Amino acid sequence: MIRYNNLLFEVTKDYYLIKINRPKNLNALNQETIKELKSCFDYIDNNLKNKYGVIITGEGDKSFVAGADIKEFTQLDNDSSLKFCKNGHDLFNKIERMPIPVIALVNGYALGGGCELSLACHLRIATKNAQFSQPEINLGLIPGYGGTQRLSQIIGKSKALEIMLTANMISAQKAYEYNLVNDLAKNYNEALKKAHELILIFKRKAPVAIKNVIRSVNNYYDINVDGFQEEINLFVDCSKTKDFNEGVKAFIEKRCPDFTGE
Ligand code: CAA
Repeated sequence: MIRYNNLLFEVTKDYYLIKINRPKNLNALNQETIKELKSCFDYIDNNLKNKYGVIITGEGDKSFVAGADIKEFTQLDNDSSLKFCKNGHDLFNKIERMPIPVIALVNGYALGGGCELSLACHLRIATKNAQFSQPEINLGLIPGYGGTQRLSQIIGKSKALEIMLTANMISAQKAYEYNLVNDLAKNYNEALKKAHELILIFKRKAPVAIKNVIRSVNNYYDINVDGFQEEINLFVDCSKTKDFNEGVKAFIEKRCPDFTGE
């Protein structure tokens, strides 16, 4: 299995598990970790067979990810801050466009780039001790890994502005009420169980339909794409699959479909 300096990468029967492994720094994302995450998601994208989801979480019981690594900020100048943002955007766009669902298991602080990482995932499950914030304003910055866009998309402009302008910590319960997270769990083990249960649901669906739902929903947020037209194209794409025939046949025969991904 591939080894990383800053990640623990586990391949289970049905899914991939990525743990950001810098607990002494509350799993802050330094540039090496961003690079490793990009390479890890590229690997997953090339090895999708018999895998139905990705779970991403933080090592330890204190933090999911406490943001970008502020200790690297002392070296930022005009050119490097551009590169810094671009690397983060490339990675988070890659996550958002993965053809299998990516679930953030938020087990503690999800701050700045950590909150933004969770927002790039398709679904979020938070443990009771999770806390969300976009505290960049306290550093004289704005979110730089897509937070101004995705937080507004997911919870609406008003609450997103409040969170980014105040830098307040948002509890797991409040995040659930804001629709920032999909589900809550008592602790890490319960969250992992819930994430696995979701992945077992995805496993029973047609893979091309899963991929095309993600793509089509993402299109809604892309101003360069006519999402309605693309939905028609993706629907037609699904209708050409063997899985579509199987789904209809199974309905008529009153049995569960047996999808093969073809
Ligand atoms: N970057 C680098 N190191 C970090 C870090 C970060 N984002 N967050 C925490 N750490 C380090 C601390 O420096 C400390 O290391 P040392 O022991 O070497 O000093 C260690 O993690 C433990 O942290 P604390 O002692 O501060 O722990 P605490 O329990 O007292 O406080 C905290 C926890 C409230 C999360 C506090 O650490 C904190 O405020 N962290 C910064 C959060 C932040 O501002 N994140 C946004 C970063 S900017 C960004 O992400 C931009 C973007 O959009 C991409």
